Amino acid sequence: MKSFLSVATLGRGDLEALMDNAVHFRSISEARQPNTTDLAGRTVANIFYEPSTRTRLSFELAARRLGANVLTLDPEVSSMRKGESIRDTALTVSAIGADILVVRHSREGVPEQVAEWTSKPVVNAGDGSNEHPTQALLDAVTIRDRFGRTDGLLMAIVGDVSHSRVANSLVHMMPRLGVDLMLAGPEDWLPTDSPVPCLDSIDEALGDVDILYLLRVQSERGAKAGEDYVSRFGVGPERASRLKEDAVIMHPGPINRGVEISPEVADSTRSLILNQVANGVPSRMAVLQALAVVT
Ligand code: CP
Repeated sequence: MKSFLSVATLGRGDLEALMDNAVHFRSISEARQPNTTDLAGRTVANIFYEPSTRTRLSFELAARRLGANVLTLDPEVSSMRKGESIRDTALTVSAIGADILVVRHSREGVPEQVAEWTSKPVVNAGDGSNEHPTQALLDAVTIRDRFGRTDGLLMAIVGDVSHSRVANSLVHMMPRLGVDLMLAGPEDWLPTDSPVPCLDSIDEALGDVDILYLLRVQSERGAKAGEDYVSRFGVGPERASRLKEDAVIMHPGPINRGVEISPEVADSTRSLILNQVANGVPSRMAVLQALAVVT
């Protein structure tokens, strides 16, 4: 694996190897053992052109736990403010000494372009509405933790699907792990050419799903959620009570409390939201280590 840009090209064996390695790294961290030395002497650079809490911080911690040096470029105080291009920024960060670049951008395809310009391994930390492959990986780890398997589970991905890079990565990845998928949301927010079933209501599916995966309504990409959205797709205690006893609720974060999910449901025992966050660090360790092996 030269770069980690998409999950579309990864087979089940590749995915499960990364998931197994994530669990391995998690057990090392839980035992409070010292950092590994897999990336000793290497430098990981985080270049985030869009805001992030979970992804950026967990890549930083993942790199440190692997023994790497970490550079984090803040666009607000970098020469990007003086008009430096993405290409020149990537070449400059590489020349300073970065061995692996972690890139987030609002435009689809930017991480792939950086991988072509620099020849360094690149991790896609989210590109526009295209993909967020490490989010899908940590979600798969979280699901397998809870159910002990992925095969035969039914997942409904609900909400602002059309803007969601997370949904795209999940649609590529989950069927490969044996998870059956459906999408639900307002018609305008659903793809017209989906390979999986699309519903304009979640109510008929609530009693069947094992995983209710709620998406953030992405106001920064023009989506607006009014009262109609909350009443049709928002998940509060009443809808949650219609789920199967062992069904879980997931969300990539950040959550809009009171929009796609109520505070009670977000903080309930069904919610795996913080488990997802916690699995971000070991999952990203697994990805960085896989890339370090080939550099
Ligand atoms: N899930 C996710 O990508 O969150 P951040 O934007 O906080 O990184």
